Amino acid sequence: MTRAFSPHEDFDSPGFEQLKTYVVEQTGLAYYRNKDRELAYKFSRRMEKIQQTDYRDYLAHLQAEAGRAERELLIQELTIGETYFFRYQEQFDAVRDQLLPELIKGICAERQRLSVWSAGCATGEEIYSLAILLNSAFPQLQSWDVSLLGTDINRDFLRQAEKASYRKWALRNSSDVFLQQYFLKQDQEWQLLPAYRKGVQFRAHNLILDDIAALIPVGGFDLIFCRNVLIYFDQETYRRLIVDFYRALKPGGWLVLGPAELTPLSCEPFAPHALSRLSCFRKEDPAQSAEVAAFSASASSLSAPAFPDPFAVPELPVFPWQSQLAPASSSLPLLLTHSPLTERLISMPVQPSLPSEALNTIRSLADQGQLAAAEALCRQFLAQEPLHVSCHYYLALVLSAQGQTAEALQALKQVLYLDHKHILAHYHQGLLFQQMGQMPAARKAFRNALGLLNTQQEDSSLPDSEEWSVAQLKALLLLQQEEMA
Ligand SMILES: C[S@@+](CC[C@H](N)C(=O)[O-])C[C@H]1O[C@@H](n2cnc3c(N)ncnc32)[C@H](O)[C@@H]1O
Repeated sequence: MTRAFSPHEDFDSPGFEQLKTYVVEQTGLAYYRNKDRELAYKFSRRMEKIQQTDYRDYLAHLQAEAGRAERELLIQELTIGETYFFRYQEQFDAVRDQLLPELIKGICAERQRLSVWSAGCATGEEIYSLAILLNSAFPQLQSWDVSLLGTDINRDFLRQAEKASYRKWALRNSSDVFLQQYFLKQDQEWQLLPAYRKGVQFRAHNLILDDIAALIPVGGFDLIFCRNVLIYFDQETYRRLIVDFYRALKPGGWLVLGPAELTPLSCEPFAPHALSRLSCFRKEDPAQSAEVAAFSASASSLSAPAFPDPFAVPELPVFPWQSQLAPASSSLPLLLTHSPLTERLISMPVQPSLPSEALNTIRSLADQGQLAAAEALCRQFLAQEPLHVSCHYYLALVLSAQGQTAEALQALKQVLYLDHKHILAHYHQGLLFQQMGQMPAARKAFRNALGLLNTQQEDSSLPDSEEWSVAQLKALLLLQQEEMA
C-alpha cells in the first residue's frame, strides 16, 4: 500500500523518532532534535524520490550496506552550506595581521611548512579565501610547502568546491577590483585563477564519525578554521571537537571558530587570549612562552578600530546588504529582493551588541527559506544577548514565517517588554492577531502602532527602519483599520 507523504504532519508516524536519533548520531546535527516538522519535510523529500513511505523501512535502508548512496543524499538534504568569500572580514584581518605573521616567523619557520584545515568547508569559499590571502599578503610563501585542506560531510559541496567556480552571491563581500584580480568571468560564474587553487585539497570527512588522526599532518596543523559548524551540534559534541582540534594543532597553532559559536570567550583547553574576542584561540606553546607573553601583550593593546569587537557593529551601515545587494543582480535568489519576509526584516532595528554578520546570516538563511536554521541562530544569539530587542524581533518574524504564530506572538511580547515603543512589533502583533481571527486584539495592536506613529514627524523615516516611512506605515494602518471596521 502506498501513502502520500504530507511533510508537515508526518512526524507522529512510527519510526520517526528512531530515524531522527539515527540521523543526529550519524551527523551530529542535534539542532534537528526539536525541528520535527522541518525534519519530516526533509525526510519526505528523500523518501518520495525512492518511493519509501515508512520511516522504519527507510531507516533499515539507510543502515544497510546498499544504503550508502541514500545516506549521502540525505546528508545533502540536511546540511546547510551557507558561506561566502571572506565571511567575517575582521577574522581574516586578524589572520593576516596577527596569526600568520606569528606562525611564519615562529613555529613554521624552521621547516618552511604551513598546514591549514577548514573543517566544514562547505563549497570551498573559506579555504580559497585563505589561499588568496596567503598568496597576496605573503609572497615569501611561494617557496614554502603550503597545504590547505577543506573537509566536509557533504560530498556534493566538495564537488562544487573542487570546481572553484562561483556565482556572484558567493562573492557578495567582494569588490569588482577583487573579482578582476583573482577570478576569470565565465558566463554567470567566476572561476578562481589556478594560482590560488595551488595547494588546496578537499576530502570528505564526518567530524562525528571519522577519525581525525587520518587528516593530521606530521607535527599537526598550524591553523584550523571551523566556523558555523559547531552551532548545529550539541554542547557535548562541541566540547569533544574543541578538544580534538586542540590535539590536531601544533603547539603555538591557532583555532578560529565562527563568531556565532557557543562560547566565544572561553574555550577550554585553550587558554583565554586577547584574540578570543574574535573567536581565535591559540594552543599554548610552552617552548615559546616568553614570546607568547609578548605577543599577547601587544594583541591586548590593540585599539578598538583596528580590532573591532566581533559583537559590536559600531560604524557599519545599519544593514550592510542594503548597499551590497542591489536589486539588479540577476544571480541573486528572487526571494532576497522580493520576499515579504525580507521586506519585514529590512525594517529591523539593529543594536550594536551583535555582529552585523550574525544578523546578515539570519536574514540570508531566512531568505533562502532555511527558516529553521535562521531560528536556530536567533536562539544562539539570544542565549548570549538575551536582551537584544532586534534579535527577538527577528525570531518573531522567522517563527511567523514558519507558521508558528503562538511562538511568534510570544517573541513579539518579549520585544515589547524590552521596548514598548517598538512600532513594528505592535504592527506585526496586529497582523498575527488578525490572522488568528482575534480582531479586538488586532485592532488594539494596530491602534498602539498608530498612536506611536502619531508621535513621529510625518516625513521622518520610521524609527529603526530604513525601508518604511512613518507616513507609509500610517497609510497602511489606516487602510487596515478601514477594512476591519
Ligand atoms: C554553514 S556551513 C559553514 C561553511 C564555512 N565554514 C563558513 O563558515 O562559511 C556548515 C558546514 O558544516 C558541514 N557539516 C555539518 N555537519 C558536519 C559533520 N558532521 N562533519 C563535517 N561537516 C559537517 C555542512 O555540510 C556545511 O557545509
